[in-house]
Amino acid sequence: MPDVLITGAGRGIGLELTRAYRADHANVVAATRSPSDALSATGADVHVGLDLSRDADRICLVEQVADRSFDLVILNAGVLNEDALGGLSLQVELIREQFEVNALAPILLIESLLPRLRAGCKIALMSTRMASIADNSSGDYYGYRMSKAALNIAGKSLAISLKPRDIAVFMLHPGYVQTGMTGGRGDITAAESASRLKGLLQRLDLSQTGTFWHSNGTMLPW
Ligand SMILES: NC(=O)c1ccc[n+]([C@@H]2O[C@H](COP(=O)([O-])OP(=O)(O)OC[C@H]3O[C@@H](n4cnc5c(N)ncnc54)[C@H](OP(=O)(O)O)[C@@H]3O)[C@@H](O)[C@H]2O)c1
Repeated sequence: MPDVLITGAGRGIGLELTRAYRADHANVVAATRSPSDALSATGADVHVGLDLSRDADRICLVEQVADRSFDLVILNAGVLNEDALGGLSLQVELIREQFEVNALAPILLIESLLPRLRAGCKIALMSTRMASIADNSSGDYYGYRMSKAALNIAGKSLAISLKPRDIAVFMLHPGYVQTGMTGGRGDITAAESASRLKGLLQRLDLSQTGTFWHSNGTMLPW
């Protein structure tokens, strides 16, 4: 059975990814900030108390999994704070939070987890189409777009560094998904998104490392 680590597993896409991998009998470490009955019911090994913006919380997770190895790491947790030109100077802390949680924390967490990643491991970084510079036709969302674009470029470097170790890195857009982040709006449910992402991750291999994908199976431009 594959060993999988998923962050942001308490709700939304992360919870559905946990359910999907558990349904396939994968061993899942499901990391979350706060406990939830729904997550416990999946039978995953739940790690509670991971606030990604806190160094101590990330270290605690890494210590907790010190005797495990992973075939798949999905860094799904993320935060979106709305902003627009004209109000940015009033929202500096919210922008900074997005850089911490969406960009810096994932790359630091992966660095700490490197000894825990098996050859053949896949790393999935939950990005967004909103990080695509080529695809940005509507503007605004400065903090979110900047932080996820930073995640993408970090993921690309990671892909280059880890290819010799037979570890692949993919940046993923889950679709426009009905979760708390979108206020329940979206084209697909979190369960549908998780199912698509799982299928996509199964198909992708090391020859495609360092690429950016929509959950519908199309490659996205940077
Ligand atoms: N929904 C969409 O349409 C959409 C589109 C593109 C990309 N995405 C990306 O998909 C991922 C999952 O989003 P979602 O739609 O499932 O959103 P969601 O329902 O709002 O869930 C966000 C998850 O991230 C966790 N999280 C937020 N800040 C955190 C922090 N500081 N430390 C640890 N965990 C934190 C939340 O934990 P708590 O439960 O503790 O708050 C929650 O589990 C995100 O990275 C998001 O950017 C979503």
